[in-house]
Amino acid sequence: MTDKVCLVTGANSGIGKATALGLAKLNATVVIVSRDKDKGEAALYEIRSISGNKHVDSMVSDLSSLDSVRELVHDFAARYKKLHVLINNAGIFLPRRISTVDGLETTFATNHLGHFLLTNLLLDELKATAPSRIINITSSAHYGTHIDFEDLQGEKKYSGYHAYSQSKLANVLFTYQLAKQLQGTGVTVNCLHPGVVRTGFGKDQRGLMSVAVRIGSPFMMSAEKAAEAVLYLATSPELENVSGKFFSKGHEKKSSTQSYDAASAEKLWRISAELTKLDG
Ligand SMILES: NC(=O)c1ccc[n+]([C@@H]2O[C@H](COP(=O)([O-])OP(=O)(O)OC[C@H]3O[C@@H](n4cnc5c(N)ncnc54)[C@H](OP(=O)(O)O)[C@@H]3O)[C@@H](O)[C@H]2O)c1
Repeated sequence: MTDKVCLVTGANSGIGKATALGLAKLNATVVIVSRDKDKGEAALYEIRSISGNKHVDSMVSDLSSLDSVRELVHDFAARYKKLHVLINNAGIFLPRRISTVDGLETTFATNHLGHFLLTNLLLDELKATAPSRIINITSSAHYGTHIDFEDLQGEKKYSGYHAYSQSKLANVLFTYQLAKQLQGTGVTVNCLHPGVVRTGFGKDQRGLMSVAVRIGSPFMMSAEKAAEAVLYLATSPELENVSGKFFSKGHEKKSSTQSYDAASAEKLWRISAELTKLDG
């Protein structure tokens, strides 16, 4: 991965940090994105010292804020002209509804809209650098749920699990719609369920999610093991022309029935473009 530029969101902990470290060990230039400057710098020093790779950089962005995503793209473009691998990993689970600075529901804004905007704003760099890859970290939680277009922001009724699973279904629908648009560009986009992984995910939350995380923790895989599958999607030569697919850990798999609904994917894209003011 020498001379390849990779950007990983949510890279100060868990799967994102383990993935960034794996890329650094492969000698890539790695940009780690965190919402907290101090946490990002701590991860930066750890990754640099373990990997011995000095080409690791830290940038700050709160993916739930549209302005912050635009600033990240501005900062990235000022420092880098190439982008070979974009890993949209940052994610959150919120048992109670919280609004973002833009007045959006935070789970949907962070897990889907922030990455939708980031990816679209980085497409020129990705196309100019092709062959290049986009990897969206989704979850098996996307099975059995639907996009509630009547109440996308959970304003009428909010459930933390529905908000999370809906956002992860949005990751898959986004992947499939983007793959269609990127045909012939040399930019691939795939999504991945990393497995059930022992990370900080859900630990700070109250309610059923945190109970499930604490009880299940000893049986979960390590972040390093989960990162192997992300690294496989990011680097393996046999996947160079594979696009628009869902992987569970390291294997291609069928995603949910709802995720193949092209009308939902197009509608979600239209709404996401409006909410993020993608076209100005
Ligand atoms: N762990 C699992 O079993 C599992 C299963 C399926 C899918 N996933 C997915 O895997 C991805 C990584 O999760 P993880 O398990 O590694 O959990 P994690 O350790 O909690 O990592 C999540 C990362 O996302 C960052 N993040 C959250 N909100 C953000 C925001 N608004 N802006 C920027 N960064 C933000 C967090 O930053 P802070 O440190 O500042 O909070 C953290 O670095 C998520 O997309 C999750 O949905 C995880």
